Amino acid sequence: MEKGRFYRPFFFDSKSRISSLSLGSHMTKKYTITAALPYANGPLHLGHVAGVYLPADIFVRFLRMNDADVLFVCGSDEHGAAITLRAKKEGVSPKEIVDKYHHLIGTAFNDFGIEFDVYDRTSSEMHHETSSNFFKELNKKDRFIQKTSEQYYDADYNQFLADRYIIGTCPKCQSADAYGDQCEKCGSDLSPTDLINPKSTLSGQLPVLRKTSHWFLPMDQHEGWLKQWITEGLLDGEQQHDPKAWRNQVTGQCMSWIDGGLKPRAMTRDLDWGVKVPLPEGEGKVLYVWLDAPIGYISATKKWAKENNKKWEDYWLKEHAGDRKLVHFIGKDNIVFHAIIFPILLKDHGGYILPDNVPASEFLNLEGDKFSTSRNWAVWLHEYIEAYPDKIDELKYVLTSIAPESKDSEFTWKDFQSRVNSELADVLGNFVNRTVVLTNKYYSGAVPVQGTLTEQDHKILKDLADIGHRIKDLVMKYKLREAQGEMMGIARLGNKYLAENEPWKLVKTNPERVETIMSVALDITLKLSIAAAPFIPNTAKKVQHILNVDFTKWDQFFEARLPEGSMINTPEILFKKIEDDFVELEIQKLKGKSEQTSKFAPMKEMIDFDTFQKMDLRMGKILSAEKVEKADKLLKLSVDTGIDTRTVVSGIAHHYTPEEVVGKTVLVLLNLSPRKIRGVESQGMVLMAENEEGALSFLETEKEFLQGQSVS
Ligand code: 2FM
Ligand code: ZN
Repeated sequence: MEKGRFYRPFFFDSKSRISSLSLGSHMTKKYTITAALPYANGPLHLGHVAGVYLPADIFVRFLRMNDADVLFVCGSDEHGAAITLRAKKEGVSPKEIVDKYHHLIGTAFNDFGIEFDVYDRTSSEMHHETSSNFFKELNKKDRFIQKTSEQYYDADYNQFLADRYIIGTCPKCQSADAYGDQCEKCGSDLSPTDLINPKSTLSGQLPVLRKTSHWFLPMDQHEGWLKQWITEGLLDGEQQHDPKAWRNQVTGQCMSWIDGGLKPRAMTRDLDWGVKVPLPEGEGKVLYVWLDAPIGYISATKKWAKENNKKWEDYWLKEHAGDRKLVHFIGKDNIVFHAIIFPILLKDHGGYILPDNVPASEFLNLEGDKFSTSRNWAVWLHEYIEAYPDKIDELKYVLTSIAPESKDSEFTWKDFQSRVNSELADVLGNFVNRTVVLTNKYYSGAVPVQGTLTEQDHKILKDLADIGHRIKDLVMKYKLREAQGEMMGIARLGNKYLAENEPWKLVKTNPERVETIMSVALDITLKLSIAAAPFIPNTAKKVQHILNVDFTKWDQFFEARLPEGSMINTPEILFKKIEDDFVELEIQKLKGKSEQTSKFAPMKEMIDFDTFQKMDLRMGKILSAEKVEKADKLLKLSVDTGIDTRTVVSGIAHHYTPEEVVGKTVLVLLNLSPRKIRGVESQGMVLMAENEEGALSFLETEKEFLQGQSVS
């Protein structure tokens, strides 16, 4: 490297400096950021990540780079029918369900690098106390109306059927499996009594109506101020937020609710899982999960504050929080709960700040279909991390590129491959690699002197500063997808700069100019590493490691330079290309999982060992068989059970003739209560195997066993 040339700092031109300052000066520095508390009833899939957690994490990382005072809270939503129904399905207690998924989800967030300050849970004592007190305060202020109404009840299970305990046909879109609280197909908010042909999800039976008393939030009384607050950002005549900063779909959904007329909504439920209603007359009832869950953000803050010697009030209460902004990152199915119901509760309680923004995402689809837990049509975050722990940033990058910010979007493995290969590897990886390889080759890794910048050099540095300002502007408007595109634009500019200047050709004839070119290329690489940090933090760190620096502040994007003469490290591959085999394997996995789920009936409710022991299963020999009159499916069998000879009616006539079954030794359940089938009393059951086409087969023993011998 030529000696005696001096570092000349690059200054902004006046225009970019002004825009930088003006943007910086009105940036609020205090934020409470929440990400929707996921139900602890199943793992997270990529739709959740792309819609809520990744955008929240990017936003927070960006704020932190700007020295904002940010609190980022999340945790598990552990109450409500979502949990108890899952527990029933898996045959375990709700507590076992929430413990399992709280751990699984928390670990996945951690491994994926979603950096919450606190990941709490709503089963915690602190949360029960906080939400109970919140409810009591509202009750004391007469903000609820207690009333008795008729609600659906499952007489077989002795249980009222709230929310997801009841399904039926949606009155709006006719979808056959709408829940009692919401139709997932059209997104309508429903009450159980709105459903056509309601059915209990417990017994499958038609429910009956029974009287019960609940605490209702008279949402209709709040329409006036809500409308002003949502559309104009005004609260009690004061400007609270910029209404234009809210996404159209959020304002639109809220207004369609309000214009349709808000109805009083029950804030308590007849369930035994949740936060108990803290009043004597609330015996046997719990708080509605959508009352307690958002209060979970406050409880989580309390937990964090206690552990970190802070005051939770500074993050939530107007008097202490000053101009702090509250931002809720959520999916579109959570809009009304965060932009209407929770604000009503906060305002009714008094003293709290209201959300500044509720950036809700639309839905992400997967390979041409909706994500579906029941059909196993999903890419589960924890499974991806386990399979590809070295491809975290690849997934983050792709999910942000297709983030469903303003309309539904789609994840496909082919698109994943193409974005990783042609954007991350070919554009970003290639640019960093070329710059680092050439610096090592020409200057043994020492940063060259910048020398005299040409007009083209000035222009590219100015373009980069503009990109920096645009990224900030876009992130602060929650347009993270576009912001990430701008970040990638830096690498594109870098590649173009190298391709146009061809330092590899010029090095023989004009080594001085090549020093300047490489110095500019290193500047671009440094800026890229700073701009990449919110989106692909692992890669940003790797690039900074190669450059031997640690620049973590956004302002350094504009100001920082590599000191001339400082040493950089040798290159390392940032992104490996994704092969076709990878894509095929993932598609096969997805289809395989989904077929398995649909081919086989889901597991039935768990039984304990004692229940199993109650069954008297024995080998029995079929002595005779005949068709049952006027019942073409049935055979009447006479079975020697070893202890007696009894009649068993079996629905196998389409599969076996009487002659075929006589003489077989088969498995029989003896102690099944006798039932009359087509006038014939059946005194047991012959066990059969059934395949997915409905073909039947007897269960016979491998060795010769005699009738009467037990099965265990
Ligand atoms: O939709 C959901 O997954 C809910 N568990 C979100 C709750 S967000 C908040 F209110 F806690
Ligand atoms: Zn519907």
